[in-house]
Amino acid sequence: MEIKTFERSYLQGAKDALKSAFYHENSDAFFNEWEFAQLLLGSDGYIPELCLVALDEKKVVGYNALTEARIGGCSGLALGPLGVRKEYQNTGIGSALVKECIKRAEKAGFPWIVLLGGNYYSRFGFESGKPYGITVSENEFENEHIRILFLDEALKYKISGRLVYCDAFYDSDGKLL
Ligand SMILES: CC(C)(COP(=O)(O)OP(=O)(O)OC[C@H]1O[C@@H](n2cnc3c(N)ncnc32)[C@H](O)[C@@H]1OP(=O)(O)O)[C@@H](O)C(=O)NCCC(=O)NCCS
Repeated sequence: MEIKTFERSYLQGAKDALKSAFYHENSDAFFNEWEFAQLLLGSDGYIPELCLVALDEKKVVGYNALTEARIGGCSGLALGPLGVRKEYQNTGIGSALVKECIKRAEKAGFPWIVLLGGNYYSRFGFESGKPYGITVSENEFENEHIRILFLDEALKYKISGRLVYCDAFYDSDGKLL
C-alpha cells in the first residue's frame, strides 16, 4: 500500500472507494461523499498537494482531502472526506492517510486542521472544538462533532468563532451540505 497525491486519473477509483466506505441504504438522504470528491476539484479551497489517495497496486483503496477553511479571521485546513474501501478497513490505511496529510500540512505551515467527526481522530491529537468556542452552525449536534488539531500550539485559545469551509461545502442558499 502506498499513499500518493491525488491525480485526475484516480478520480473514478477515489469515488468508488468513498462509495464503498460511506454507502448505505439511506445514503440518498445524506451527504454524498463520493460525488463531493469531484465537486472539490473545482472548488476555491482545493489544494492539489493536500488531496491524497491510498493505492494497493494500482487500485485506489482510500481517499482523504484537506481544503482551505477559516475560523474567525484565521486560515487553516478542513479534513474530509476520508474513506477507506470496506474490505480494506482496519488495516491502517485511514491512519496512513491522516498522518501523511498532517505531515504535509505542517510542512506547508498551516496552523490547524479541523473536521466534523468522531472519536477516531483523537489518536492523531484532534480535540473537541467546544472548549475553544468553535462552531460550525446553529446546530448543537453538528457543533459537538467539531474536532481540531493545533499544529501551532501557540494558537490554542487564541482562535474561536465560526468555522467556514470553502465554497464546495455549501449549497446555493449558503447552507452547509
Ligand atoms: C473511519 C475510517 C476512515 C478509518 O480508516 P481505517 O483504515 O479503517 O482505520 P485504521 O486501520 O487506520 O484504524 C483502525 C482503528 O480505528 C478504529 N476505528 C475505525 N473506525 C472508527 C470510527 N468510526 N470511530 C472510532 N474508531 C474507529 C478501529 O476500531 C481501530 O481501532 P484500534 O486501532 O484500536 O484497533 C474507515 O473505517 C472508513 O472509511 N469508515 C467509513 C467512512 C467514515 O466513517 N469516514 C470518516 C468520517 S468522519
